[in-house]
Amino acid sequence: MVNAAALIAVYLQTSIALTAALEQQPPPKTADGAAAASGFDYDDLSLREVGARNTRAWRVWLEKKGQPISFWHDVPLWPDGADKQIVSFVVEIPRWTDAKLEIRRDEPMNPLFHDTKKKEPRFVESVWPHKSYPFLYGSIPQTWENPNVHHNFTGFPGDNDPIDLFDIGQDIGYVGQVKQVKVLGGLAIADSLTLHMPPRPAHQDLEKYRPGLAAAFRDWFTYYKVPRGDAVIPIAGDGGYQDVAHAVAVLEQGHAWWAELTRGDAVDANEINYNQTSNPAAAGSYVRSDAAAAKFGIPGESAVELPAAKPEKYERWYYLDSDKKLIEIPE
Ligand SMILES: *[C@@H]1O[C@H](CO)[C@@H](O)[C@H](O)[C@H]1NC(C)=O
Ligand SMILES: *[C@@H]1O[C@H](CO)[C@@H](O)[C@H](O)[C@H]1NC(C)=O
Repeated sequence: MVNAAALIAVYLQTSIALTAALEQQPPPKTADGAAAASGFDYDDLSLREVGARNTRAWRVWLEKKGQPISFWHDVPLWPDGADKQIVSFVVEIPRWTDAKLEIRRDEPMNPLFHDTKKKEPRFVESVWPHKSYPFLYGSIPQTWENPNVHHNFTGFPGDNDPIDLFDIGQDIGYVGQVKQVKVLGGLAIADSLTLHMPPRPAHQDLEKYRPGLAAAFRDWFTYYKVPRGDAVIPIAGDGGYQDVAHAVAVLEQGHAWWAELTRGDAVDANEINYNQTSNPAAAGSYVRSDAAAAKFGIPGESAVELPAAKPEKYERWYYLDSDKKLIEIPE
């Protein structure tokens, strides 16, 4: 059984001095009004939502100027090419929600969908004292956690997805939102192992302005799968957050692997659909955005239906004992 490893970068875009400038700053523009990074203008983006929430058929596509593009392959990783600490972020799971939504890697233009477990839409269980996702959660476009190589930091192969991200700011966000955030650090989580690591204080300003938050969120990732019968998830390295330099190095590596993927040079693309609309030079993966909907049978416009009901068990709170085992009340 292969162990997956994923880097979770931490972001901040609140009133905290550290990143206050970020919110005011529009994407850098060139003379003709296009964003500096590959002519990408975030104002051109919109969403196409089809189907009922909480069902397997539900999808959200990203559009640019009204035509479908890929959340994963067509949004630039670095909006401002010069500052590698500022990255684009695709919101899959808004704060205070629990539906496990993610980028669909094996469908053309990689829409968002509701992940399933045993063919049922998956929601995250709430482990006391948390409720649902306490942060914005999503992924970083144009990165790939390559499953064909063992990463030198975690010692495990990647999980075959874009690099994940959680944003600790005050924005609640919405499904499919594409925003720019500042990297504060990273967490390397190694799924399906059992180890305990000592905590370590995170970024100094973070601790000053949001005392306890870094540790609480790290613990959220450590224990969130226990209620469904999975093991505690260890944090690779020394169990704490990695610094910005480390996180940026991981992003650069993930971006290089992604570039290999979309060029068609990856050893094994692992059933990823990497059709993209932004690099005509990439033979074999480029499609014209205005031709994508017809070519791939993507619905022409939004058609939202009423959401399906969420199973009652996801409204519960789950409690862990001092050994981090699920507490069951005897009959
Ligand atoms: C991984 O190892 C390579 C060389 O072996 C090094 O250049 C790179 O910085 C390392 N990456 C990380 C994230 O440590
Ligand atoms: C593009 O999409 C088609 C249809 O799903 C698929 O057959 C093909 O493999 C995809 N190409 C790439 C490069 O992902």
